[in-house]
Formats: sequence, structure tokens, C-alpha cells
Amino acid sequence: MTTSIQPVEPVAWTGSAVRIIDQRRLPGELIERDLTSVEEVVEAIRTLAVRGAPAIGVAAAFGMALAAVTNRDRRRPEFDAAVRAAGAALEASRPTAVNLAWAVRRMTAVLDAQPGGGSVRAAALLAAEAQAILDEDRAMCRRIGENGFALIAGKPRILTHCNAGSLATGGGGTALAPVFLANERGAAPTVFVGETRPLWQGARLTTWELRRAGIETVLFPDTAAAWTLRTQAIDCVLIGADRICRNGDAANKIGSYGLSLAARAAGVPFYVAAPSSTIDLSLACGAGIPIEERDAEEVTRPFGTSIAAEGVRVFNPAFDVVPHELIAAIVTEAGIIAPPFEAGLEAAVRAREARGRDAAAGADGAHARDAGGGPARESGGGGAR
Ligand code: MRU
Repeated sequence: MTTSIQPVEPVAWTGSAVRIIDQRRLPGELIERDLTSVEEVVEAIRTLAVRGAPAIGVAAAFGMALAAVTNRDRRRPEFDAAVRAAGAALEASRPTAVNLAWAVRRMTAVLDAQPGGGSVRAAALLAAEAQAILDEDRAMCRRIGENGFALIAGKPRILTHCNAGSLATGGGGTALAPVFLANERGAAPTVFVGETRPLWQGARLTTWELRRAGIETVLFPDTAAAWTLRTQAIDCVLIGADRICRNGDAANKIGSYGLSLAARAAGVPFYVAAPSSTIDLSLACGAGIPIEERDAEEVTRPFGTSIAAEGVRVFNPAFDVVPHELIAAIVTEAGIIAPPFEAGLEAAVRAREARGRDAAAGADGAHARDAGGGPARESGGGGAR
């Protein structure tokens, strides 16, 4: 089935605010919020109002643009200090997705390249760079869609985890991009979605995105993952990533490692899709990836209801690492990379570096608003779940 529904736009820049879709409110409400301080952007990333590796990179870039715009009346030393402090705070807001540090580094490089000149001009350059990061992300998602489409052609029953759709990116998605394309081209995919406890990104966000696009969707409890792989004629697993090391080890939402083991046991190919901004060539293997551990209450009090013995100790890692030997292919905007991954991953990064800002120039950036009247809008720091 084809669809006229346009991708959602989870992060955007108004010129004076970072506009996000508050993902904590989905699927019940589609609410936009305008974040007008760096502290609000940090909080939005930390609390997963904006989430997904590419999307938080884009949000961090706009957070630095926001610091620049609000400090553009100051002299360059104070202006620079404010922008750099914003970058440090944004980078520290979540540890695992490398896109965050990558975006902060790109924005900082703009400052470094313009040591002279006025703050007003530097602020304009920083805002333009953040927009370029967003536009490039959308372009990378489109390429991942095309490249991944070739990989999943003839594999209509796909299992995914967490949310690697439009909401997790500048728009278009990574792991879901080929699925959206397959649907548009009439391939009628069926997507099996793990609920993704404890924050339920699969149940809340992925099922919302897929059903909005008219895609056949089956939600299963996380605990049913291995059995679903064994019994539901799944053709492949396709997930996103938060950080991919040189050897191909890939961090993604907690549960991904277990899925990869179950997929190997069931003989189902396991694919990872991510833009080159998610590749961390500085890490040889997954042992070096910082794994975020989150608040115990996310486990003991889902949706504010106590479900565990008072005072119980909790282990709540937000991510795990899929070992490269369990990954059949990695899809990037540069193409499909087969094992051994190192040379292909390095080539993808170098190709992006060589493209430089050309990707931004090529991006149309013209994502339309939600066809159904668009999201409601709130401003300021409200909206916590
Ligand atoms: O904690 P989250 O919701 O930010 O985790 C997101 C994921 O694990 C995604 O699968 C990953 O960032 C890839 S998104 C294109």
C-alpha cells in the first residue's frame, strides 16, 4: 500500500527556539514544544522528550545554535565561552549515542574556524551549521532507505526493536527507512515490534509510526522475542544503532544483544542500519562504549505505578552491544557493508567527510507537517510524563 503521510519532524529550528515533538507524550498526544534555553534542551534529551541517536545529535547542534543566538550581543570571548559551555552540557546529557559528541564537535569546529569576527556573524554560521547537520541527516536517512530496501527486498516479515524511525532522526528513520520505502513500493511488509521496556519506545513510538504509514504491525512483549523469531517466519531483524565501533560491534537499545543471539539460534539474518555519524572509528570494539544506566524508577514505577518490592535494587542499563560476529550486514548511507566491517565503516566515514557540506546543499529539507492538522504546540519547560 502507498501512503501520502509525510515523515514527522522531531527536531526543528525556529530561529529563536529548538522545536521538538515531545516523544514522552506519544502515542496519546502529538505535542510540539519550543525550547528556549540550553537547560531545556539538555533536559529534553536527558528525559527522552527528544531521543534516538541521530535526533539527539541534531537537537544538541540546535542547542548550541540557541546558545549562540541568545548570546550574540556579547563580545566574542564571552560569546565563545557560552557556546562552548552549552556544547559541554549537551554532550554530557546522554553518554552512549556518539552522534551527540559528533554534532557538538562539528559545531565547535565552526567556532574554531572563525576566531575573529563578530558574534552576530558567528551565531549565524552556527545556526547554519546546525541546519546543515539536520539536512544531512535527512539525506542520509533517504540513502539508508534505498540501500536497505535492496537488502530487505523479498524479506517482508521484519522484526525490529526500540524506535529507529522518523522520530529517532532528523526525519525518515534509519532501520525503518527501508520499511517505509518497501511499503510505498507495494511490497507489503509486516513488522514485528518488541515493546522495548522500560520506556516502551517500540510500543509507544514504532507502532504509532508504522500504523500511521499504513504498515501491518505486530507488537510482542520483549520476553517473547526469541519465540517470535522461532515461530513467526521472520525473514530478518533490522535495528538501528547508537554507536558502531571499528570492528562493527554495535550499541543499541537494551535487548538488542539478546535479539542477536536469538536470531543466530533461529537462523534469521540480523541487520543494523545507521548513518555514518553513528560510526565511532576511535573505538576498536564494543568494550569501550559507555553504557548509560538510568533511574531505578523507570523499572519499578512504570507510568507512575509501583510494581516492585519497595527498596529493591535495580540494574537498568539503557543499551547493550551486539557483537559484530552476530551482524550479517550494516546499512549506511554509503551502502551495504558486509563482514569484516572495518574497511567499509572507515570508507563510509571518509566519504561523508569528503562530501562535507555538499550533503546539506543536496538536501531538500522540505518535510511537510503532519497531514492530520499537525501537532499541538506548547512552549517552555512543561510536558514531563
Ligand atoms: O534511549 P533511546 O530511545 O534514545 O534509544 C534509541 C535507540 O536505541 C535507537 O535504536 C537508536 O538510537 C537508533 S535510532 C535511529
